[in-house]
Amino acid sequence: MLTYVSDIIYLVSAVFFIVGIKMLSSPATARRGNYLSALAMVMTVGTTLVVGQIADYTWIIAGVAVGTVVGALAAQWVKMTAMPQLVALFNGLGGAASGLVAVSEYFRRLDTLESYLVIVILLSLTVGAITLSGSLIAYGKLQELIPGRPITYPLQNWGNLLLMLAALGVGIFLVIEPSRIDWFLVLVGISLLIGVLMVLPIGGADMPVVVALLNSFSGIAVAFTGFVLSAKVLIIVGSLVGASGIFLTVAMCVAMNRSVWNVIFGAFGQLDVAAAGPGVAPAAQGAVKAYTIDDALVMLENSDLVIIVPGFGMAAAQAQHAVRELSDKLGERGIEVKFAVHPVAGRMPGHMNVLLAEANVPYDQLYDMDAINDQFKTAGVAMVIGANDVVNPAANEDPSSPIYGMPILRAEEARTVMVLKRSMNPGFAGIDNQLFLRDNTMMLFGDAKSTLSKLVAALKN
Ligand code: TAP
Repeated sequence: MLTYVSDIIYLVSAVFFIVGIKMLSSPATARRGNYLSALAMVMTVGTTLVVGQIADYTWIIAGVAVGTVVGALAAQWVKMTAMPQLVALFNGLGGAASGLVAVSEYFRRLDTLESYLVIVILLSLTVGAITLSGSLIAYGKLQELIPGRPITYPLQNWGNLLLMLAALGVGIFLVIEPSRIDWFLVLVGISLLIGVLMVLPIGGADMPVVVALLNSFSGIAVAFTGFVLSAKVLIIVGSLVGASGIFLTVAMCVAMNRSVWNVIFGAFGQLDVAAAGPGVAPAAQGAVKAYTIDDALVMLENSDLVIIVPGFGMAAAQAQHAVRELSDKLGERGIEVKFAVHPVAGRMPGHMNVLLAEANVPYDQLYDMDAINDQFKTAGVAMVIGANDVVNPAANEDPSSPIYGMPILRAEEARTVMVLKRSMNPGFAGIDNQLFLRDNTMMLFGDAKSTLSKLVAALKN
């Protein structure tokens, strides 16, 4: 009877997980999706604790207590801008958990290991270990504990391929000879090494894509653990995370006009603004005219529609609340405000959505690229706040540009483009942006938050 009830609870939880993840696809339902998934997690873990024939709860209670304290503190203390490294760390822990279950099941069932069980244990172990070590390197790069530039050496990709083949060879050997603990430990070592060597050559700025991929790996490892433990709910949840992580990785690559292959093996993504230096295009800088708050005010007040394009600079300046205030002030004057959100604006998936949600910008003011692009030509002002690459017309117009083909927000079609940034420095892609030189563009130089606060103050008067 108990098994029957628990199976039903697991099934309901699995449905909640699926619906929850679906709800994450829209900012309007994302919060409820998160709660639903959290509820499903409580139901699943709670049921397992009741029906799992657990002899001693001491370590479980200790683990839950430590995890709760760490999780609650991290949620309070970690800044929005440090979210990618937190996610990297969480992915790593997910991989570690799967790997550790695999190790413990291997030793616990050493005398009765059948081929099927060995295969799923080894898959759970390898994917989990790669996720752990790869995520730790990603964390190190994002936290600048290790150099963010791609670390490369000759025959790197061939070396990695060789390691993967070695892992496969050892795995096959272990299926034939499951009791060889020495080779099992060798496989642990090789897997950890693959994770390290796979992520080291990837530039720090490409880490968000890698984190999405490792997130997918952590899900795949969990799914394999589900097979090891015959736990259907783990298989379902792991597959969901694995699949959504892959979709996210591909979506990010498409939005950057890069292939997953190029990100993983291209040793690209070197964020080297310092090397580009201030005024990367000195000639261009001379031609640029800086405007004043009063100039900007005139343009804004003469617009029926203002489209705000937030980018990485808004996050760096923590200007989201000031943006909201400006939007409210414009709204009070009968000026319609819309937000155009590019899928890879900022440095992590959903970066802009999360920041704008934090500042309580109503969801119905947020527009995806495809939904807003045709509206720029009807806007009086496109206000570009700390965005650069995502509005660079070179992506449409200059076949020699490294970002040619990347889908962009067509801000240049607005009557006036107002750009809030501190200098003529390039963005992530390290390239010039001719938009800043166009006749209909006005540059408002300065930190985005301070410029926005001045605009709000001016509008109040
Ligand atoms: P970027 O092209 O990186 O440009 C950001 C701009 O913000 C910079 O030009 C910088 O100019 C300005 N800025 C920085 N701090 C500022 C501050 N305090 N106040 C005002 N401006 C400030 O940003 P984007 O347009 O959002 O594009 C994102 C880029 O990141 C794309 O190339 C994308 O492919 C890449 N990327 C995105 C992701 C994800 S998932 N979002 C992941 C990996 C890579 P100044 O220094 O002159 O102020």
